[in-house]
Amino acid sequence: MKTREDCERLDEVDPLATVREQFVLKEGEIYLDGNSLGPVSRDVVTRVNDVITHEWAEGLVRSWNDAGWMDMPLRLGDQLAPLIGAGPGEVLVADTLTFLLAKLIGGALELRPDRHVIVTDAANFHSDLYIVEAMAARAGRAVKVKAIDRDQLSGALNDDVALVMLTQVDFRTGEALDLAGITAAVHDVGALMLWDFAHSTGAVPLDVEAAGVDFAAGCGYKYLNGGPGAPAFLYVRRVWQGVITNPLPGWLGHARPFDFEATYEAARGIRAFVTSSPSIVALAALEGALSVWEHATMAQVRAKSLALTDLFIELVDERLPGVFSVVTPREHARRGSQVALAHPEAYGVVQALLARGVVGDFRAPDIARFGFTPLYLRFVDVYDAVEHLVAVMSDSSYRDPKFAVRRAVT
Ligand SMILES: Cc1ncc(COP(=O)(O)O)c(C=O)c1O
Repeated sequence: MKTREDCERLDEVDPLATVREQFVLKEGEIYLDGNSLGPVSRDVVTRVNDVITHEWAEGLVRSWNDAGWMDMPLRLGDQLAPLIGAGPGEVLVADTLTFLLAKLIGGALELRPDRHVIVTDAANFHSDLYIVEAMAARAGRAVKVKAIDRDQLSGALNDDVALVMLTQVDFRTGEALDLAGITAAVHDVGALMLWDFAHSTGAVPLDVEAAGVDFAAGCGYKYLNGGPGAPAFLYVRRVWQGVITNPLPGWLGHARPFDFEATYEAARGIRAFVTSSPSIVALAALEGALSVWEHATMAQVRAKSLALTDLFIELVDERLPGVFSVVTPREHARRGSQVALAHPEAYGVVQALLARGVVGDFRAPDIARFGFTPLYLRFVDVYDAVEHLVAVMSDSSYRDPKFAVRRAVT
């Protein structure tokens, strides 16, 4: 069994150990919820202050030109692109994830006008299911959404499928799907592939270029640490740019926004997916957050993520045998960067841990979910978190009625 000293030794040789210093973390707290909302980093504070005190306060409206505000959605897209294996000009940062999925679903449906089915995962994030149903209903032709068990995907693929939309890492279980294999199978029947990378970007290595992905979108506030409600990003493969249309056109996606023309003409390239004025302060926060990637590679992050999640699973197995069922796949290739433990009283477990300064979250109906962000977590944090878990299970504090009160955000 691994000891705390073993974990200290792992931290000593961790190539990412110093990256933790970039983050503002609460002393004594173990933050295992970066898969929901990443913590703030020092560069975020600096960059946001700079935007407010200089670019906004002093520059005012001039900053749209002088501070390059108009290009921020593209500039940040280029900054983020390497994290998903995309090239320059293929990623745009804007809106929030559900809106970007709507744009990509609407646009993709028009590229397969003779097909009538969108396949998705019945266990997909609920917002994805709502928006895909809504876009299908507004497609201008009969389009049916088939929400299937993801293991039945190959049986659902045929020449009536226009689009397959899947979330690459399951938000509940942390299962990671085979990006390249599924994309290839979808292309084999002539359909298009749209991936939701909410729980993947910054957590698992992605190569949209090699996998032949058509479209993808993800959010900025989880493993990218861009702040609550941070702007999201979308990826449109270069071959589709100028071919796919943005179903939610707006003035800043126009080829000449300041000509104020009554008729819409899409801008060239990824800019065509811009609709509205970019949210500059929020973009500045994300820009600051992305600078942490100057100190870490995805390969380092993945290696440490697997080591942290392996350690957590191993300690839970050894110290709490039979208490939880580990829902997250144990195979590395099928694991994201979180571990989900099923327990009938998972809500109370998460609350009791919270009271001890270990922050995870609960996902109905019975999942205690723990995210492991290698940029700021240490091996000793994992060890200590399991110590706390053992304590709340042994003294049954998770059954305390005060921990049963459901709050709005779980
Ligand atoms: C997998 C997945 N898709 C979509 C969303 C919705 O994101 P947004 O609130 O940015 O629309 C989330 C939010 O957590 C998510 O986890």
